[in-house]
Amino acid sequence: MLADRRILLIICGGIAAFKALDVIRRLREAGATVVPVLTRAGEEFVTPLSVSALAAQTVYRDLFDLTDEAEMGHIELSRAADLVVVAPATADLMAKMANGLANDLASTLLMATDKRVLIAPAMNVRMWQHPAMQRNLAALRGDGVLLVGPEDGTMACGEFGPGRMADVPDIVAALAAALSDGALAGRHVLVTSGPTHEPIDPVRYIANRSSGAQGAAIAAALRELGARVSFVTGPARVPPPEGVEVIRVETAREMLEAVLAALPADAAVFAAAVADWRVANATDRKMKKTEGAGAPTLDFAENPDILKTVSQLDAGRPGLVVGFAAETHDVATNATAKRARKGCDWIVANDVSPETGIMGGEENKVSIVSAEGVEDWPRLSKVETARRLAARIAEAISG
Ligand code: CTP
Repeated sequence: MLADRRILLIICGGIAAFKALDVIRRLREAGATVVPVLTRAGEEFVTPLSVSALAAQTVYRDLFDLTDEAEMGHIELSRAADLVVVAPATADLMAKMANGLANDLASTLLMATDKRVLIAPAMNVRMWQHPAMQRNLAALRGDGVLLVGPEDGTMACGEFGPGRMADVPDIVAALAAALSDGALAGRHVLVTSGPTHEPIDPVRYIANRSSGAQGAAIAAALRELGARVSFVTGPARVPPPEGVEVIRVETAREMLEAVLAALPADAAVFAAAVADWRVANATDRKMKKTEGAGAPTLDFAENPDILKTVSQLDAGRPGLVVGFAAETHDVATNATAKRARKGCDWIVANDVSPETGIMGGEENKVSIVSAEGVEDWPRLSKVETARRLAARIAEAISG
């Protein structure tokens, strides 16, 4: 997928700029040509010499560099590439992109390009969470800019949280997906996965045994077909796949908020095992065991039904909404009723009765319930089930 492809790599200023050197190395190993652009601030972190030596290419630095313009104008430079990648992408460059500024080489190239743009943001956690940043991010998503990361982690500044640039293998995987000529290239698909945790107090919570395996396999299969995948996951045991945008949440309410923020999407797959109930009288302080006071009583409140909410959106409903059903008996009848109740397009129903060994296992046996009726699939590995489902989704949304 990367062989003989031409990547325009814009390196902005930030501690993470050193990782861009590794991106160049890996892309070249995979047979791609990397044309590097280094911003003024980027030069403070990596030298033009190391960038051009690793890329074996001229490093472009200045909009008004006449030699560069004589060789290749900025318009041509931005269009000769198959993909434009910004790694690391700073808050400053993202703000320029979101507002259409073009006052240096990097921002001008980004305005002039007719190719897909993938950015790997890297910044301090507070900068990432700033409302201005989140506004810009929403604008960029709306413009179809692809994102990889950022990840949660310890920052160079010592703070912890989202803002650390995605790891190099994740950037390379996202890049390959963005370049893929797969059936879902250019499409955005949302996937929920894993369990939710519903707090009782600051140290205790109610959870379920979902591993997140099926959701992760579906996200990976969609990415393999070239989709941009937003992966909203509860605290799962199975790690998220590479090359998808990971949005981590704990509770059902956080999951709903993250899902709505990730829209619009061409399709949405709700594979998460969302808790139906949360503790209504959860406390901010740890519950204490008081001598003679007896056991505490937990009150429950119903959680929002994320699948149903999205299925019934008036504006911004994804073109295809897929829900899951875990049934132990009357699988087809129950799943058909569930499809009507939720208002989704398909239900992927699986028989989780203990004798099937599906719950927590490597395999799955599902039935797809749609307006056309019920289709039983054979027993397959979860990965194979995911691939079939992704192919079916591609068929449905491009048909
Ligand atoms: N779902 C959701 N939000 C909830 C509950 C469920 O998005 N609060 C989604 C799940 O991700 C899944 C489907 O709805 O796609 C499952 O529906 P649910 O009503 O929870 O049914 P089951 O868990 O299968 O079982 P039951 O019918 O016994 O409740």
